Amino acid sequence: MVRKERSKTDRFRSQNIKRVRRWRISKSKMLEEAIERAKGKTLTIHAPGTVANMVCGFDVLGMALNDPYDVMTVQLIDEPTVVIRNIDSYGLPTEPERNVAGVALLEMISKLDGKTGFEISIEKKIKPGSGIGSSAASAAGGVVAANQLLGGIFSNEDLVQMAMFGEKLASGVKHADNIAPCIYGGVTLIRSIHPLDIIGITPPLLYVTLVHPQIEVRTEDARQILKKQILLKDAIRQWGNIAGLVAGLMKSDYDLIGRSLEDVLIEPVRSILIPSFNEVKTKSLEAGALGGGISGSGPSIFMLSRDEATASNVATVMKEVYTQTGIEFNTYITTVNTTGVKTIH
Ligand code: HSE
Repeated sequence: MVRKERSKTDRFRSQNIKRVRRWRISKSKMLEEAIERAKGKTLTIHAPGTVANMVCGFDVLGMALNDPYDVMTVQLIDEPTVVIRNIDSYGLPTEPERNVAGVALLEMISKLDGKTGFEISIEKKIKPGSGIGSSAASAAGGVVAANQLLGGIFSNEDLVQMAMFGEKLASGVKHADNIAPCIYGGVTLIRSIHPLDIIGITPPLLYVTLVHPQIEVRTEDARQILKKQILLKDAIRQWGNIAGLVAGLMKSDYDLIGRSLEDVLIEPVRSILIPSFNEVKTKSLEAGALGGGISGSGPSIFMLSRDEATASNVATVMKEVYTQTGIEFNTYITTVNTTGVKTIH
């Protein structure tokens, strides 16, 4: 009896080993075919800028923008490495191990068992260190472009995992609140990173006004100054706001969105790094914005509005405030990008 059961288990195990072997062979064949089909082709994408945190949702909420975006073109090379060509003037590293798109693509190459490499040209329109998801656009744009070239063999979740290697390089920590909206579009809630659990939220029509003072705030530094412990009363207020914001976005309740855009944990600490932050915020609210705050880790400030006229009035007051500071700045008026990384040709 016992012997019979054991032999049944053995048979099951050997069938499973055969199944896994067949699956590995077919996966490897599928990869080789995908690489063969992609050889000699190029693919160009636009990778959108993103606003991480969305005020109250530190590391868990993010939103994609229609403007600005990076332009990236990818093609296969035989060597299992990444060749990077920068076609902008930011002077970012071209060694793949020191470049956010490079490390994300190296991760993809290891998942492809080193069967191919990539050459990528990157034209950054999202200034590095702006707080508008510049590193995420490079990392996510790179892996999405490569995946598209290979016929979409990886899932969006796989791509988020790969692109987070870029965020780790840029800020010392894996976080997906820029990467996920860049890839999925719209607003994303990252309920968990281990295991990855991303929830897509389709927001109502929202106009986004941003001001980007031309100073650099490194995400790594902006994370180091944060308090490691928080009071329960502040945590309660914060998670009330996160839930309120998610509910407001899902119900198209603009008033609820507006009153949930409050951050009692991060903004009081980080806002000291951003000149005239409080003035921009107060005057933007007076101009009719629903609310807003620091975009990602700053220095950009974003404000949400219901309509274009209000978004434009908000841009005017942002310009007035920053003109007085003497600091150079850019402003953007845009809307929420609902598609994520887009293939151009
Ligand atoms: N959640 C991250 C942070 C986003 O605020 O540090 C960085 O863009």
